[in-house]
Amino acid sequence: MLPSFDLNLYDDLDPAPRLLMGPGPIDADPRVLRAMSVPLLGQFDPQFRRFMAETQTLLRRVFQTENEATLLIDGTARSAIEAAMVSLIEPGDVVLVASFGRFGQLKAEIAARVGADVRVVECPWGSVFDTATIEAALIEHRPSLLAVCHGDTSTTMAQPLAEIARLARDHNALLLVDATATLGGMDLAVDALGIDVCTAGLQKCLAGPPGIAPITLSPVAVERIRARRHVEAGIRTASDLPANGKRITSNYFDLAMILDYWSDRALNHHTEATSMLYAARECARILVKDGLGAAIARHALAGHAMASGLAAMGLALYGDQANKMPNVTGVHIPAGIDGDGVRQAMLDHYGIEIGTSFGPLHGKIWRLGTMGYNARRGAVMTTLAALEACLVAAGAKVPQGAGTSAALGVFQRAGSGR
Ligand SMILES: Cc1ncc(COP(=O)(O)O)c(C=O)c1O
Repeated sequence: MLPSFDLNLYDDLDPAPRLLMGPGPIDADPRVLRAMSVPLLGQFDPQFRRFMAETQTLLRRVFQTENEATLLIDGTARSAIEAAMVSLIEPGDVVLVASFGRFGQLKAEIAARVGADVRVVECPWGSVFDTATIEAALIEHRPSLLAVCHGDTSTTMAQPLAEIARLARDHNALLLVDATATLGGMDLAVDALGIDVCTAGLQKCLAGPPGIAPITLSPVAVERIRARRHVEAGIRTASDLPANGKRITSNYFDLAMILDYWSDRALNHHTEATSMLYAARECARILVKDGLGAAIARHALAGHAMASGLAAMGLALYGDQANKMPNVTGVHIPAGIDGDGVRQAMLDHYGIEIGTSFGPLHGKIWRLGTMGYNARRGAVMTTLAALEACLVAAGAKVPQGAGTSAALGVFQRAGSGR
């Protein structure tokens, strides 16, 4: 017998308003939410196939790539990382993960689960790699794949990629870049850099909800995946001879079949997440319409204003500022202040969410995001004003109005109206 319960306690979903200023998710652009409410279509309806193709065209512009294999994986950002790894890595393959935070650790974790012989090179949290360290690791480990974050939100650092991409090429390693937190907010030219696999999520700079993951794959990566193509029973035809390579061990994340699903053949692999595809299409459409350069500049400006405001309040910014992500700012929690208490007060009294961090940084820093729809003046100013009030209430000494006035100065000098 199921325990009795009172259905009257279950109201309509009507959450209190929030301003999401943490490391993601952020508030979705209202246009994206509207796109998600348009009617569902069957996945083989010609209209839906057209929306899929349009999404691919738009995403190629966002990734700055001509890769034919530019598509979506149904799942949050890590689903694209997992799909790429399980489809590319065969058990025993050496994979090198360059880890400078929690999301580097995540890539090592996923690679290990798909059976890779994982080697990890680390640098201290709050910093990024120099070229020599990566080169030495490539020489030592001779991996078939090198995986690295572009921006690791746990530390708020952004790894410069040009030299790493060159080294990966020179040492015959495919390069996988996790751009979950930077695509659309920092310049990331996949083809110009020579990245083989680049993955993202909607819930950061792309101004959408979590739940679907853009990915792009170079022709070389696609070739490796196709060499492992084994079409599942039930949809296999006589011409679908198994490839010579080992069968991919995940069905859901089998990129060989997912590529066939997105191709003209429209292989009936999974049922596409219709409303999430609409969301992804709208995120990419808005970005391309506004201009990638303009979006990147908007993130840089909002992040600079946030960092300037925090510094003017007397707070110490976290990490190597020369390599800080523009769209997430880490800041030390002042001594004697209860960091989680301040975050709770921000939420309870102002409806604003900011983040703490993980592992060694938990309780030591806050992370404030200025991403996607919230990379704008009003969101930055409101957050700084509320943080000042919460800090003062918690007993911190904060110069009155210094944070907001520094941030406003940044926006005014840039002539930003938004
Ligand atoms: C850099 C990075 N990679 C991967 C992820 C995992 O994304 P998801 O939670 O959408 O699976 C995140 C999430 O914050 C991230 O910031």
